[in-house]
Amino acid sequence: MKLDGKKLVICGFMGAGKTTFGRWIAYQKGLGFVDLDAKIEEEKCMLISQIFEEFGESFFREVETEFCKKLTKMENVVIAVGGGTFENERNILMFEKDFDILFLYVSFETCYSRIKGSDRPLVARLTKKQLQELFKRRQKTYLRASKIILKEWEVANI
Ligand code: S3P
Repeated sequence: MKLDGKKLVICGFMGAGKTTFGRWIAYQKGLGFVDLDAKIEEEKCMLISQIFEEFGESFFREVETEFCKKLTKMENVVIAVGGGTFENERNILMFEKDFDILFLYVSFETCYSRIKGSDRPLVARLTKKQLQELFKRRQKTYLRASKIILKEWEVANI
């Protein structure tokens, strides 16, 4: 499969490198790049961790869907969504209409080594075992949603 479309969305677990890869591929293709979480933080003037803390996860998920709706209208863009964005089927449906969906697969251990100790709310709240279960469950979602899978990519290889 060639990445020849002008609208690409990247999904994958926390720590897979969606933002790093997204920026790189956007640059290579001469497209814009938007990170969903960064966009939410910028427009709401709050960190994702603060949104979770003050309003709870379900409120964050509503905001996430609202922003997905806005971002799907953009042209010539690569978007990196959050690790949990595609747990909501509505978000997949919105993107799959005219975006290519790429799943960035990285092993759980690699993701975990990158995210442990970070301020991501789910990382602070869940044990390693629980995160591993979440990882397993989400792989199925990412696989189902995506047209393209990039496995164990490394910055040095691209
Ligand atoms: C989340 C992943 C985070 C962020 C929020 C929830 C998740 O994004 O959206 O903390 O549910 O996996 P990253 O995947 O960019 O870390």
